[in-house]
Amino acid sequence: MIDIHCHLLPAIDDGAKDLDEALSLLRMSLADGVTRLVVTPHIHAGRFHNNKAIIDAALVKLKAAMDVENIELAIAAAAEVRIDAEILPMIEQDKIPFLGEYVGQKFLLLEMPHSHIPSGCDKLIKWLKSKDITPLIAHPERNRDILADPDKIKMFQRLGCWFQLTASSLTGGFGERCQQLSIKLLKEGVIDVVASDAHNIKRRPSILSHAYQQVSLLLNEESADKLFHRNPWNITQSLFVEHENNA
Ligand SMILES: [Fe+2]
Repeated sequence: MIDIHCHLLPAIDDGAKDLDEALSLLRMSLADGVTRLVVTPHIHAGRFHNNKAIIDAALVKLKAAMDVENIELAIAAAAEVRIDAEILPMIEQDKIPFLGEYVGQKFLLLEMPHSHIPSGCDKLIKWLKSKDITPLIAHPERNRDILADPDKIKMFQRLGCWFQLTASSLTGGFGERCQQLSIKLLKEGVIDVVASDAHNIKRRPSILSHAYQQVSLLLNEESADKLFHRNPWNITQSLFVEHENNA
């Protein structure tokens, strides 16, 4: 499995609080059957002022610690970017790291507020698409507007977005409504990727295998492979190939 949404860079957002927790989460991922992982710290105006340079520097430090600890997991970095007009100049200045490039598109892990779908986000997505950037919408099943009216996801589909479900939404970690919506979106074929969105050991761990088993039962093994391996690899392989060629 390849986990392409998690908050494992230490002390850079609300994810792993220090290096020890980051290393524990990485060991947890490895034991759970993850072979590659993309860390995606928040870029969120007014809250987490991260950018490509800060994230790349934090990744270098984490990789050095992984070498010392012999944690043999391939990792790369991107970001989970909160939808906000402020991201437009950051993209133009190449300050936002993408999840990778696939079929001529750069993929951007894009997060909405949990409370609602912000007005104007369709315009922002159209602007992104005009730049050959495809948003991978982070955990649509946790957005309250979509929970209240699942048809609201159709606008994002029409605009050409992809969708990432959070593993623990499917296994009940965010409540029954969120779980039911996760099942519905999976059965309708809306979801492209399942990822952990891990933040910490206790409440938001880096576990994908339970959701993998559930998708295998709900749909079939081939669909689980597509959501946990094939699509994540297609989207992010340019990050790994670039790095592995430079190593
Ligand atoms: Fe996240």
